[in-house]
Amino acid sequence: MRLIVVDNYEAMSRKAANMVAAQILLKPESVLGLATGSTPLMTYQFLIKLYKDETINLDGVTTFNLDEYVGISKGNENSYHYYMEENFFKYVNIKSENQHIPDGNATNLEAECFSYEKKIKSKGGIDFQVLGIGNNGHIGFNEPDLKFEAVTHPINLDDETIKANSRFFESEAEVPKKAITMGVRTIMNSRKVILLANGQNKTETIYKAIYGKIDPHLPASILQLHPDVTFILDREAASLIKDTSDMQYVDLYL
Ligand code: PGA
Repeated sequence: MRLIVVDNYEAMSRKAANMVAAQILLKPESVLGLATGSTPLMTYQFLIKLYKDETINLDGVTTFNLDEYVGISKGNENSYHYYMEENFFKYVNIKSENQHIPDGNATNLEAECFSYEKKIKSKGGIDFQVLGIGNNGHIGFNEPDLKFEAVTHPINLDDETIKANSRFFESEAEVPKKAITMGVRTIMNSRKVILLANGQNKTETIYKAIYGKIDPHLPASILQLHPDVTFILDREAASLIKDTSDMQYVDLYL
């Protein structure tokens, strides 16, 4: 595991965008795994800037988003289709046929999950996966559970996730109760993973993800076993981290 600790959210976002940009420069046909939520918002802004500056060209890039709610339309402003369009896709040149997000309105959710997983495989798997982390330790919408769910699957959202995400909705009652998410194996099969976290509400979860037991009750803990994972944290999210002797590479930009 590599750990990069920077001063603040902006520095975290710049670092993440630069790592994605390096991936695209070194492999223009990269398959990227993308995340939504508050955390990667500024990363997308930096990537858009790098595209506008002509530092990167996304013409050959393919993307797969981690997850999508079940039961809200793609045009709903809380859907991840909408989020991706408004915060990233409409500003860059990723071909629309190369943008993939699970269809939360599919009549047969199991079939949709199967086909999503198959599409990822047909593109040769994910080269570079961007992750956030939920307060409950989820990655994608892989919620705390008795076991790690391997492949893309429908999931009932955790009460904590519903509460956390209600800030985007009019009320908690409006938050969908179900979603489709890539599985833990789908994520772990990515060649490179970066996980971003900022702010003090993530501090304890980050500590457990890095030092805790590898346990499906804290899904992000499985990343301890990934051969090429980098946690990019701001100072607050990293504030419980003391012992870095097991890390391959520690970059403290403080
Ligand atoms: P956030 O969500 O970026 O909005 O904090 C992260 C997540 O739930 O994975």
